[in-house]
Amino acid sequence: ATGSLAAVLLVGILLQFAGCSPPPDPVTCTDGTSNCTVTNTYGSFTDRTICHAANVVYPSTEQELVAAVAAAASAKRKMKVATKHSHSGPKLACPGGSQGTIISTARLNRTVRIDAERQLIAVESGMVLRDLIQAAAAAGLSLPHSPYWYGLTIGGLLATGAHGSGLWGKGGAVHEYVVGLRIVTPAPACHGFAMVRELGADHPDLDAAKVLGVHGSVIYRQDDRVDVATPGNGLSDLALFRSNPTALLVRAR
Ligand SMILES: *[C@@H]1O[C@H](CO)[C@@H](O)[C@H](O)[C@H]1NC(C)=O
Ligand SMILES: *[C@@H]1O[C@H](CO)[C@@H](O)[C@H](O)[C@H]1NC(C)=O
Repeated sequence: ATGSLAAVLLVGILLQFAGCSPPPDPVTCTDGTSNCTVTNTYGSFTDRTICHAANVVYPSTEQELVAAVAAAASAKRKMKVATKHSHSGPKLACPGGSQGTIISTARLNRTVRIDAERQLIAVESGMVLRDLIQAAAAAGLSLPHSPYWYGLTIGGLLATGAHGSGLWGKGGAVHEYVVGLRIVTPAPACHGFAMVRELGADHPDLDAAKVLGVHGSVIYRQDDRVDVATPGNGLSDLALFRSNPTALLVRAR
């Protein structure tokens, strides 16, 4: 009886520990949108520090993004892009020093357009992978390759060269399927300190820019690798990528 009581207690404890929640907002500010820190999903960067910035902006349209870039450029402030969950180990979201600006793509999360016939979808760069897969599926399309975590943003996964696996089509890297980008860059004062550049499929800079993009369009190709009549639930349940108890992760660090 003692044995089974212990077993019941153990199960109770395990059930309490099991659970999940989205990562907290990586950007926090003491004063509205000023005096901020930025970190990542893991709570600190690879050197066990977090970064400081003077302020954060949350543009929700391309116009607001242009205005944010122009404001930082005209004030000669360093700027970096942070995403909704900031899932990178390296300090890609740190503007350097403590006087920089963080431009968050958290509110740039919409579908711009879908062209099912040409198998194209254009989305804003802060859209997370899950929403892109759902938007594409609603139009009968699928992404042939993707990284495993669906909380990544499209801009972030292009900027870091994130990939799935396989040799089908052009291979596993998502940026191989990008056919165009609209990017916002700082510009000279005579152009108002910021400008939108549109790079089409035949633009010589597209290959370089699509792994640096702030505002991306991604192409989808119909996935014909597996017959839709194949039985099974399609679950990818690799032990490495399952959720783990927090205590175990803390101990592993
Ligand atoms: C800025 O934030 C830091 C914590 O990150 C805090 O210690 C400091 O008092 C804040 N400064 C102002 C002026 O609010
Ligand atoms: C897009 O971002 C807005 C603002 O943060 C949020 O209210 C909305 O729920 C987001 N949409 C999706 C599909 O996550």
